[in-house]
Amino acid sequence: MKNFEVRNAHFDRLVNTPNLRWMGQNTNHATPHPAVLEAMERCIRDEEFHIYAPPAGLEELRQGIVADLGLTGLAALLSDGAVSSLYHVCHTLLRPGDEFITTDPTWNWPMSFARSVGATVKQIPIYGAEHGYRLAPERLAAAITPKTKVIYVVDPNNPLGSACTPAEIDGIVKAARDAGAYLIHDCTYRHFAYDHTLAATRYPERTITIYSFSKWLGLAGLRIGAVVAHPDLVEQFASAPPNNLGSNILSQRAAIAGLKIKAEWFPGVLSQQRANQKMIKDAVDKIPGFSVPVYPSNGNFMVIECQPAGVKAEALVAAYQRHGIMIRQGAYHTPTFGDRFIKVSTSVPSAWVEEFVALLPSVVEQARGQNEDVKLF
Ligand SMILES: Cc1ncc(COP(=O)(O)O)c(C=O)c1O
Repeated sequence: MKNFEVRNAHFDRLVNTPNLRWMGQNTNHATPHPAVLEAMERCIRDEEFHIYAPPAGLEELRQGIVADLGLTGLAALLSDGAVSSLYHVCHTLLRPGDEFITTDPTWNWPMSFARSVGATVKQIPIYGAEHGYRLAPERLAAAITPKTKVIYVVDPNNPLGSACTPAEIDGIVKAARDAGAYLIHDCTYRHFAYDHTLAATRYPERTITIYSFSKWLGLAGLRIGAVVAHPDLVEQFASAPPNNLGSNILSQRAAIAGLKIKAEWFPGVLSQQRANQKMIKDAVDKIPGFSVPVYPSNGNFMVIECQPAGVKAEALVAAYQRHGIMIRQGAYHTPTFGDRFIKVSTSVPSAWVEEFVALLPSVVEQARGQNEDVKLF
């Protein structure tokens, strides 16, 4: 069987597993606000799905996203999830021979998009105490070459949960500006951060801010996100977009309703998510050789180091899977550092986290010394 079939069958199995506890994909399982459900019900009842949405997205949503970011003067182009924006931006800006720079770990798909158009990819390692699990702007500046066209920064970083400080954003922007490079600032997890600085406030002409409704609003399956950038850049992105017939109208109605209830609804989701992180941290600290290198995480997920305990990440993932709990092995994010950690998503019901922590000591013992040959993705 071809690899894509094996991979798809894996996810199909997961999707069709009743009562699976999804703690591996940073999805948000909080109970939706009734207004979001009502907006979708209304859209279905009114049979709005017969029409195409406007090519760049419903105006109310475009304006709502720009207002949510506070990036007055910049423009939003809706996409079928943030990943579609990333695909499109990479395909629009990169040419064969260009260089694309990101961190290691990073979110991997944009590297595939860059390579698929003939660009080369350079990764700056940031995993480890020696780097503080973050990107020092000087290291970015030193990595840049005349071929560097795009810098891709995931902030907060997935999987690490570290977020750039204002001074780091200043430094990253300076490095990008000096090189005349585009800066893709992937802010998919921004809403979970304790403090977050948008690079676009410093470098509006060439920063491309990536926005998602999958995480903070919990709409992953509805596939709705956006790219926000200078109107000149968006004009370029809008000239040959992958979905010129508009993104899913049901998803857009849900997202508009979500922005309206955000101030009322999201703080509760955030505090529950942070309490979940604490529960996990307390449980991990009791296991010899296990640790949480970045705490608290600025994302809705956290990294747990397992290698010093002699426990394989894949074996832990497989052991939890047998209990109906999905978590992620580090190798999903990085072949270089992947053996060191697992990643656990925390925007989930506290009952799932209670189960996760209650199982941890026995799962560690099951996993210890095992060399799972299961294929994970
Ligand atoms: C850093 C990062 N960017 C983008 C995405 C994709 O988001 P969306 O569901 O909006 O396509 C993810 C999904 O996990 C992600 O981790």
